[in-house]
Amino acid sequence: MNKETLLYEDGVHKCVMFSLEDEDQAENSLSVNQFLIIQGDSAIVIDPGSGSIFSELYEAIGRHIDPLKIKYIFFSHQDPDVAGAIAEWSVATSAKLIMSGLWTRFMSHYGLTDSSRIIALPDHGGRIPFKEGYVQFIPAHFLHSPGNFSLYDSRSKIVFSGDIGAAILSPQNLNKQVDDFESHRPFLESFHQRYMAANAFCRAWVREVKRYEVDMIAPQHGSLFRGPDAAAFLEWFENVEGGLEHLDELYLAKIE
Ligand SMILES: [Fe+2]
Ligand SMILES: [Fe+2]
Repeated sequence: MNKETLLYEDGVHKCVMFSLEDEDQAENSLSVNQFLIIQGDSAIVIDPGSGSIFSELYEAIGRHIDPLKIKYIFFSHQDPDVAGAIAEWSVATSAKLIMSGLWTRFMSHYGLTDSSRIIALPDHGGRIPFKEGYVQFIPAHFLHSPGNFSLYDSRSKIVFSGDIGAAILSPQNLNKQVDDFESHRPFLESFHQRYMAANAFCRAWVREVKRYEVDMIAPQHGSLFRGPDAAAFLEWFENVEGGLEHLDELYLAKIE
């Protein structure tokens, strides 16, 4: 399986997806994607994942840019498949570590000793300039984590959506781009219905994302959505029913 996919390149700016995970992957598991944005001599890493892939990802990034040039590492939320290796990254780079302010106090439990490295995002998110463009932190709260952001890169027009858009695919079905949204939809449904909090949050996120020109949606698990498939995904996600809409089912499970 190709573990590296070039998502965007214009000679100045480049976005790369790595798909590193534990080799012996079970059926219907979640594949995990990590992302790198490079412009000139500066870089941003998105959702670098757990300690089990740290060395491999560090080396893979090093083939594109000196890891000491990583300016920011963004964590969409606090999960181990996103932030588990935050301590290793803090030592191996001099990057600022960007995440929701809700999670900063928990990072010492992943072994992070220097909390001054963290940039804590307020709930409404924010924007930081990145060379000739910017990256925008779009609120994605409760989708699924209570303190959660997607990252929009203004130059590539990619939304790095974290767990939003995650697909549960068997290893043989892993393809890195959705060719036809309708045939991909079944792989999205159970994950979103159980992990997303409520439809109101899905609608708020779609409303916010639509303020930007979007060419691609790149989730942390599963396949990429480009062009018309990104639009079809937004239309579908706007109507996703989450935990709140299925509350009764969650509590009415039979006790044998
Ligand atoms: Fe997660
Ligand atoms: Fe995840």
